[in-house]
Amino acid sequence: MTDYGHMRSKDKDTILLVWVWMNFESPMNTRKTSGLGKLFNVTLNYCWNADIKVRKRLVFSNSEIEEDLPIQKKVTNCWIVTNWNENHYRVKYYQLLSKFITFNTYGAHFNNKQISHEEYTSTVASCKFYLSFHNTREHPDYMTEKLFNAMKLGSVPVALGPPRQVYEKFIPGDAFVHVDDFSKLEKLAQYLQSMSEDEYSKLFRWRKFFKVN
Ligand SMILES: *[C@@H]1O[C@H](CO)[C@@H](O)[C@H](O)[C@H]1NC(C)=O
Repeated sequence: MTDYGHMRSKDKDTILLVWVWMNFESPMNTRKTSGLGKLFNVTLNYCWNADIKVRKRLVFSNSEIEEDLPIQKKVTNCWIVTNWNENHYRVKYYQLLSKFITFNTYGAHFNNKQISHEEYTSTVASCKFYLSFHNTREHPDYMTEKLFNAMKLGSVPVALGPPRQVYEKFIPGDAFVHVDDFSKLEKLAQYLQSMSEDEYSKLFRWRKFFKVN
């Protein structure tokens, strides 16, 4: 935890003003505003080096968690997109991957309507795998709800973004599939499509020990 001692006022009757820069978007989606550089005393965001880190995280549970593994699924693969942009790496990747595998797709781009919170929850929960594709591979600490929601709702995230080692700073290595684990798109597609129930249940072993907070 960061020590804010240096900001504490020596005289306890004086109120110190602390300016906090709070931002949850990746640098890619943040417009640069000049003149702010020296203004803020404290940063609050998802980065490891932020003064105050705010992110979803896994917490180690004190006792073993008893639950039925969420392995019975109606749908194999799915993706929900609100922000479709042909220039995004993730959209290009999706287009290539969908030559080899079918996805159930939801969201404004595909169905012409925004998905409600309830639909989102039930949809993600009904999918075996959920594409947890980030807009960018360049902002390593930018792990979003796309990853954690899937885990929380009982779907296995297929991660595209920074390298596997970065994800493993946040979540157990066997809780997700990383696109870089496969040398070819066909191999990833085959893996997702032909997985046995037994193998699939291994991707939920972490749930005995952790929960998403
Ligand atoms: C925080 O930043 C503001 C604006 O730059 C400044 O006025 C204030 O004195 C700073 N506070 C502390 C505790 O350093």
